[in-house]
Amino acid sequence: MLKKPCLKIFEGNESMAEVLSSLSFPTEMIVEGEARLLVPKLRAFVKSPSDYAPSKAPVFYNPVMELNRDIAVLALQAYQRMVNHQISVCEPLASSGIRGVRFAVEIQNVKQVIMNDINKNAVQIATYNAQINEIGDKTVVENKDANLLLTEHAMPHNRFDAVDLDPFGSPVTYLDSAIRALRDHGLLALTATDMAPLCGVHPRACIRKYGGRPLRTEYCHELAVRLLAGSLATEAAKHDIGLQVLFSHAAEHYIRVYALMEYGAKLADESLNKMGFILHCFKCFHRESLVKPYALEGSGKCPECGSKLTVGGPLWLGKLLDEDFCQLMENEIKHKNLRKKEKIRKILALAKNEATAPIGYYVVDTLCDTLNLPVPSVQSVAETLKKEGFQTCLTRFNSKGIRSNASAAEMKELVKKLVKINQ
Ligand SMILES: C[S@@+](CC[C@H](N)C(=O)[O-])C[C@H]1O[C@@H](n2cnc3c(N)ncnc32)[C@H](O)[C@@H]1O
Ligand SMILES: [Zn+2]
Repeated sequence: MLKKPCLKIFEGNESMAEVLSSLSFPTEMIVEGEARLLVPKLRAFVKSPSDYAPSKAPVFYNPVMELNRDIAVLALQAYQRMVNHQISVCEPLASSGIRGVRFAVEIQNVKQVIMNDINKNAVQIATYNAQINEIGDKTVVENKDANLLLTEHAMPHNRFDAVDLDPFGSPVTYLDSAIRALRDHGLLALTATDMAPLCGVHPRACIRKYGGRPLRTEYCHELAVRLLAGSLATEAAKHDIGLQVLFSHAAEHYIRVYALMEYGAKLADESLNKMGFILHCFKCFHRESLVKPYALEGSGKCPECGSKLTVGGPLWLGKLLDEDFCQLMENEIKHKNLRKKEKIRKILALAKNEATAPIGYYVVDTLCDTLNLPVPSVQSVAETLKKEGFQTCLTRFNSKGIRSNASAAEMKELVKKLVKINQ
């Protein structure tokens, strides 16, 4: 029998001095959203310019992820409005509790938030953060392996409405237990920061972890989201669970997926029907998607330039967001105190336009690099495409990206013409 860990858990009535003296590392108070939080003092852990402070500290804290957490607050509130009942939330990889505490403080109709971390220092800080925000009555802080905690909640009537997985690297090792710990119509939020595998720098690692082949293309962030959603769909199907992607976004070093998990073998089949492949020509930028894997027996040649097509996937070819869910998130922005409000508004506005746009965006800079041309503004390319009658929109995945039903050859012609006019 393992001994229970000897852990001093704060109760919240300790003075700041008592808390600080019992922690063996420097900390500071910050405010994020509506919460006041004790976090490691990152400056104290940087010894050389190459040090990545968040992971040098004894408890992980990354201020850059504020946007990620702000959007999580909006998405969970939108989900709560959608289901229209009190929700229970689990954050199995909670670190300082910054995310879980914000959920409890900022989201209306949250019944309970369970925060968990394997690191005892993190558990201490998360407990203290829950107490100073006066949400001790609706939060529980645990010190377990995340898969164990989630499995303890796999029994019917003990499951969560929402689980937010925010790991170091890939969330795939927690997918199975998170799926089992969610109720029918539960929300699963996932972060992945292993962009090198997902964006095709380490393709073998991506195949191992996500079961799909990545492509090192200019629209790799979108493909990364599709690989993660595809891996989730495959994992959920084993349990006769299907999914809808309600929202997704990407930033420099991570992607995020919010999926509604729906019980039913038929729904699982429908999700698997949304799996497929991307065929990409690295010579001329042609790209196409194949919903039916068996159609892979085609010529394998690019229809535009005749070069060999490279296959990416299997991955999720279904929608990467739901317009109504985006609208619910947008409605919430005005009620929330978020520092990244304007950035989020932009992301949501772009996302809504992309709901039904073609898979795989073009990146103007990459096209111009190949053509050896000066780079026109993305807006001017989009306007010209529209004038010429093409379906066109910008993308939340890349500020220089354009989705269009124009072929690669048509895109290149159009950019050439535009540059000539501008000269
Ligand atoms: C990226 S951090 C979480 C950051 C946090 N969610 C936030 O928004 O700031 C990942 C956390 O997972 C914890 N962790 C790693 N492996 C774990 C495991 N097997 N079970 C529970 N926690 C684990 C680490 O201690 C770390 O605090
Ligand atoms: Zn080609």
